[in-house]
Amino acid sequence: MSQEWWPGFLTLAVVAWGNGVGVSSSGWTNEQLFSSVKSEWSTPLELFEILNAEFSFVLDAAALPHNALLPNYITPERDALACDWHELAAGGPVWLNPPYGRGVGDWVRKSYRESLKGSTVVVLTFVRTDTAWWHNWATKAAEVRLIKGRLYFRSGDDSLSGAAPAPSCLLVFSERLRQPQFKTVRLPRGAGK
Ligand SMILES: C[S@@+](CC[C@H](N)C(=O)[O-])C[C@H]1O[C@@H](n2cnc3c(N)ncnc32)[C@H](O)[C@@H]1O
Repeated sequence: MSQEWWPGFLTLAVVAWGNGVGVSSSGWTNEQLFSSVKSEWSTPLELFEILNAEFSFVLDAAALPHNALLPNYITPERDALACDWHELAAGGPVWLNPPYGRGVGDWVRKSYRESLKGSTVVVLTFVRTDTAWWHNWATKAAEVRLIKGRLYFRSGDDSLSGAAPAPSCLLVFSERLRQPQFKTVRLPRGAGK
């Protein structure tokens, strides 16, 4: 089975609005989730600003000129997965909102590996405890910050998307801070798959 898959039921996303809960029929389809368009969806600036005040990022590890959140960023042309982030950030903190697609596990693994060199890498991604990549790599984070409610990403023209189709989290990879407390729970026969 591939490391990443996305069940069709997520096209009907349950969305939390403030204290209430509603159902959005405008959730993303598999096609939308994995399309190149969605890979461009950007971090809400309000969220980035709070995190940047805390971490003082020096590198945006995945960006295009129009959506880079920092002056120092890596483009698809340079291919961040093949770059040394620790070196490009001079050991400083790295921000990553990876392209949304089937390869997200590669980005989370790369973030963890860069953190082994001494960088702090903060990743905005979906909570995907149903995937192998989550158990292999997200659980290596020093902190997993679970975001309450659903994010509204920004699209290329700065308009807001509909609510994301899944809950989001922030993975803080830092070997200095890491004290792992995660366990993988294997479901007993009959309890799911
Ligand atoms: C979800 S957007 C993030 C945009 C912005 N940096 C942010 O944090 O909001 C992911 C960006 O990664 C870029 N990208 C895709 N593949 C890449 C690669 N191999 N190396 C670097 N950037 C890549 C996409 O073009 C897209 O602009």
